[in-house]
Order: sequence, then structure tokens, then C-alpha cells
Amino acid sequence: MTITIIHGQQHKGSTYHITEILKERLTEGSETVVHEYFMPKDTPEYCVGCFRCILKGEENCYQSEKALKILDSMLMSDVIIFDSPTYCIEMTGQLKTLFDHYGYMWMPHRPRKEMFSKIGVAISTAAGSGARNVTKSMARQMFWWGVPRIYRLSFNVNASCWDDVPEKKRERIIKRTQETADSIKKKIGRAKPGFKTRLMFNVMRKIQQSNTWNMTDRDYWEKNGWLKKDRPWKKQGRQS
Ligand SMILES: Cc1cc2nc3c(=O)[nH]c(=O)nc-3n(C[C@H](O)[C@H](O)[C@H](O)COP(=O)(O)O)c2cc1C
Repeated sequence: MTITIIHGQQHKGSTYHITEILKERLTEGSETVVHEYFMPKDTPEYCVGCFRCILKGEENCYQSEKALKILDSMLMSDVIIFDSPTYCIEMTGQLKTLFDHYGYMWMPHRPRKEMFSKIGVAISTAAGSGARNVTKSMARQMFWWGVPRIYRLSFNVNASCWDDVPEKKRERIIKRTQETADSIKKKIGRAKPGFKTRLMFNVMRKIQQSNTWNMTDRDYWEKNGWLKKDRPWKKQGRQS
């Protein structure tokens, strides 16, 4: 199994510790490769809005080196985990900027076919409220990449660091996180796009069929056979 973990922060607080619990349980008893990134040290700076990735291709971003390295890890992985503490009811600013770098691979542009079989996980903690909103937001990003199965773990920890999380609460968090890991393990290799993903993909296909403003996107869809009958979740070998 291969896992990519992207921490929306650099410090090791409650959010990081919950991700660690998930990672430990996921990797227990199986050979696992883990690619781990911390923000902002391992990730590109904010998007400057030049549109080069969308209109000319992602390799034209002036920060493409870091963005593409992380993308390669994600494409190789069975499970992609994002975590972020809740800041003002949102994900951290740096994590949002990373998602902006992958806007070109939303379904309306150039989704990667590898994404349509992956499992995504969104983790957030808040002191009192907002963590649900954060995991919803992170899950939305992955949905638009085509990720078919997304788990969300949001916790109100009543604390500013892991050591201060009340004992009973901590036990509940650990239990739920481990149960989630067990569920993920059963789903690896079996995740398939649901109705909403398939519907959205088909809507985007229609739009691409008459797309005359962005030929980079249109050529990509054509090359993949998606303007006609092929779909990214089809088994390899049926596309030719
Ligand atoms: C800038 C900032 C904004 C925050 N905003 C919220 C918030 O909107 N809601 C909330 O309940 N807690 C908020 N908190 C508290 C953290 O979300 C909470 O303590 C979280 O568990 C910290 O995670 P960490 O230990 O991984 O850093 C905020 C903390 C900071 C530093």
C-alpha cells in the first residue's frame, strides 16, 4: 500500500497526532510506503493566478517542480490524506493555496484518471466549532478531482494542543480514528465513482465536446477518449 499525507501545517499538534494514529493503524501488518509533506516547507507558494496551468499545461507553472512532485506521490498512492487545524472556520491558508495549484485537474478541466479509484481522507480539529466545515471543504476539493471515496474525520478537541485534550475525549477520538482506518483498509482497491461523480463527469464531457476556448483541456479529453465513450474509471485495456 502507498499513502500520501499532506499536513496543512508544520507543527505537531492535535491534528497531526490524529493523522499519526490513522497512519499507524493503516500501516499495521502490511508493507507500506508513506510520502509525507508538511506545509509550507514542502509545498509551493501561493498561486499567482497566471492561468498558465489551466490554459497551457501544469508544467508551465513557475512553481511546478514542487506541485508536480506532490502530485506524483498522490498518483502513486492508494490513500491520500489531508489534515488541517481549523483556523477561523476554514482550513489553513497554506493548504488552500496548495489546492489552488491543482485547480487545473478539477473535472471541468483535466482530471487525472488515476484519481477515480483512490481513497481520500480529510482530517481537522477545532477547539470548539468549525472542523466539520473544514473537512467538508477539503473533501469538496478531492471530489472535484474525481476521488470516489472520501472519509472525513472532524473533532472538537476543546484544546489548543494534543496534551490538553481531555482524557475521555481523546479516547473517543482514538477509537473513531482506528475504526475509520479499519474501514479504509477494506475499501482499498475497491472504490468506484458514485452517481454524483459520474453525473458530473458526463456533464463536463458535454461541455468539453463544444469547448473552443481552452484547447489544452479539449485535447486532453480527446486524447483520453473521454469525448466519446471512454471514462476514467474504466478498466485499463478497454481504452484504445
Ligand atoms: C488562527 C487560529 C484560528 C482558529 N480558529 C478556530 C475556529 O474557528 N474554531 C475553533 O473552534 N477553533 C479555532 N482555533 C483553535 C484550533 O482550531 C484548535 O485548537 C485545533 O485543535 C488546533 O489544532 P493543532 O493542535 O493541530 O494545531 C483557531 C486557532 C488558531 C491558531
